[in-house]
Amino acid sequence: MIDLHCHIIPWIDDGADSAAVACKMAEHALRSGVDTIVCTPHCNISDDIPNYRGRDYDVCFGMFRALLQQHGIPLRVLPGCELFASRSNLRRLLDENRIATLNHSRYLLTEFNFNDSGERMTAALDLIAQHGRIPVVAHPERYDCVQRDPKLAVSWFAKGYIIQLNKGSLLGLLGQRAYYAGTHLLASGIAHAVASDAHDDRYRTTGLQSLLPVLERYCSPDYVQLLLETNPKRIIQDRHIPAPESE
Ligand SMILES: [Fe+2]
Repeated sequence: MIDLHCHIIPWIDDGADSAAVACKMAEHALRSGVDTIVCTPHCNISDDIPNYRGRDYDVCFGMFRALLQQHGIPLRVLPGCELFASRSNLRRLLDENRIATLNHSRYLLTEFNFNDSGERMTAALDLIAQHGRIPVVAHPERYDCVQRDPKLAVSWFAKGYIIQLNKGSLLGLLGQRAYYAGTHLLASGIAHAVASDAHDDRYRTTGLQSLLPVLERYCSPDYVQLLLETNPKRIIQDRHIPAPESE
């Protein structure tokens, strides 16, 4: 399996808070059948956590990769970020090409303030698309506007934006509203990928194995494969993703 969304790089955001925790997260991922993680630290979430493309990010990523090698942990890690798109500087960041996409592809993992309006989210996603990126909407099931009106996520899906659900939402660990919205989107067939959004090795972990019983309740075996492997692979290889129901 390939995990597209994971806060595993230590020292860089509110994810792994030490090298030891990052190594545990990597080992946990491998044990659960994940062989590749795209490292997606928060980017632009505040002036304290910028994590824009550039030397600082490359150094942190390189140190993390070296750490895994030192410990003999055979997990493949790829660069990326989770862009916080609810700030007014979005256009400037896009114009200046300062945001890391998922493994240098066109796909850009994008998150919002949970209480942002649907109109503002749609405008930001459209702006990202106008800049030649394909938005991957991080955990739409956690946003208030989607919980109130899931058709909003359907409208993003219809524009070709990628819908990524969180493991924690589908396991009911992130509240009832996220659980209901997440399983609704899953059952509607508009989800393209499910990822861990792991931040540590105790509560929001890298293991994806625990997801399988929930996914199997709502999806065919082929769709489960699409969510955890086929589509994430297309993203890291910068390939086109057809709508799930057309496959
Ligand atoms: Fe995240």
